[in-house]
Amino acid sequence: MNHTDKPHQQASTLWTSRMAFILAAAGSAVGLGNIWKFPYITGENGGGAFVLVYLACIALIGIPVLIAETMIGRRGGRSPIGTMRYLTTEEGTSRGWRVIGWNGVIASFLVLSFYSVIGGWSLVYIGKTAFGAFTGADADAVGGQFGGLLASPGQLLLWHSVFMVIVVFIVGRGIRAGLEKAVKLLMPLLFLLLTVMVIYAMTTGSFGEGVNFLFSPDFSKLTTTGVLTALGHAAFTLSIGIGVLMAYGSYLPQNVNIAKTAMSIAILDVAVALMAGLAIFPLVFANSLEPGSGPGLIFVTLPLAFGQMPGGIFFGTLFFALLLVAAITSAISMLEPVVEWLEEHRGVSRFKSALVGGLAIWFIGIGTVLSFNIWGDVHPLGFIAAFEGKTVFDLLDFLVSNLMMPLGGLAIALFAGWAMQRARLPEDIGLSGRSYERFMFVLRYVTPAGILVVFLYNVT
Ligand code: PHE
Repeated sequence: MNHTDKPHQQASTLWTSRMAFILAAAGSAVGLGNIWKFPYITGENGGGAFVLVYLACIALIGIPVLIAETMIGRRGGRSPIGTMRYLTTEEGTSRGWRVIGWNGVIASFLVLSFYSVIGGWSLVYIGKTAFGAFTGADADAVGGQFGGLLASPGQLLLWHSVFMVIVVFIVGRGIRAGLEKAVKLLMPLLFLLLTVMVIYAMTTGSFGEGVNFLFSPDFSKLTTTGVLTALGHAAFTLSIGIGVLMAYGSYLPQNVNIAKTAMSIAILDVAVALMAGLAIFPLVFANSLEPGSGPGLIFVTLPLAFGQMPGGIFFGTLFFALLLVAAITSAISMLEPVVEWLEEHRGVSRFKSALVGGLAIWFIGIGTVLSFNIWGDVHPLGFIAAFEGKTVFDLLDFLVSNLMMPLGGLAIALFAGWAMQRARLPEDIGLSGRSYERFMFVLRYVTPAGILVVFLYNVT
């Protein structure tokens, strides 16, 4: 193999501009993680203290890895596996680092399998809201509708399948053209609608309670597993450690400043999550719901609000439609490393790669579908203490978000911070002088130490 050419760094395959990359990476970052997952895990982990740890993980671990991973991707110019193979050779480092590429492709494969099932829920809720299923409904009725959906493997499978077909189709046709437009238009709209929801939450009379729950830390409510979940979520929400940014970075033109870009993406991503929290927790308290009720949280609280507010059918339908778009732009990015790898190493066409990869992922997704009903009591690795009581869905989520993504991030920080040659790094990252020195200090010491400490606490 010729190690000097970079297959993805030809004019025809690059992002058309810095903006296009920001939009795609932001589209990957902002998704179900911000609006569905962040509120429910915050609820499960007691609120404020969890949020604080999550924010610290974003700043000290998430952003440095986001920068390093994108930089590695652009340097390699290939799929995550190809990039790591190329770079370990070019940099003359141990071949062991190649595990980063494999971890990424396997993790993005697994994450999409359950992400798609939840994406299917937003499809269902577009229809339900549009047809007025929630108009005037009380908490029991709304909860009952969600319970009914979970209890039906047929429905879950149907919408999981529809979601996967959409994703495969978009990725198979090549990601750039439609994606840029969709994100450019719909992301601001999502932001606007979240603002509407936050304003509505202010009228519930429980806004203060919601704000308190989110922002006044009570560390007695935070467990060591909670800290691991916060770390895992910081990785999940920024899409790091999993090869996605390496894949997107491989299409990034050389003149784009990665450090600046990464900062804007992270700020946007956190803002969306916090807004979702501000919209949801007041509703939870106003309706005497349970903050720790689990993955159904937004599908029970938001429909209640849409059922009561003026124009609820319009706002509700639009909201779930935008949630769907946000989920799709993330799902697309999860399929990308798999497809890029199949194309590159197996010589399969893009469309076929998307189809084959998508089909396999769809099949694994059936495990998640069943874990909400027929397999509700099946705990595959339950004999291991850390996995006790976890269904297939819980297990996949834990494995990918709390283990593979943070450990992938650790390896990326170590590779970029310690193994790569320094000469070109400042220019590649887009920092110089003092800010570069500071960044490298965080990447080499703080980031790895942070991840290690969380893990050590959790195994001891
Ligand atoms: N960041 C996405 C979200 O918050 C999820 C994601 C994870 C996307 C891993 C790509 C890779 O919804």
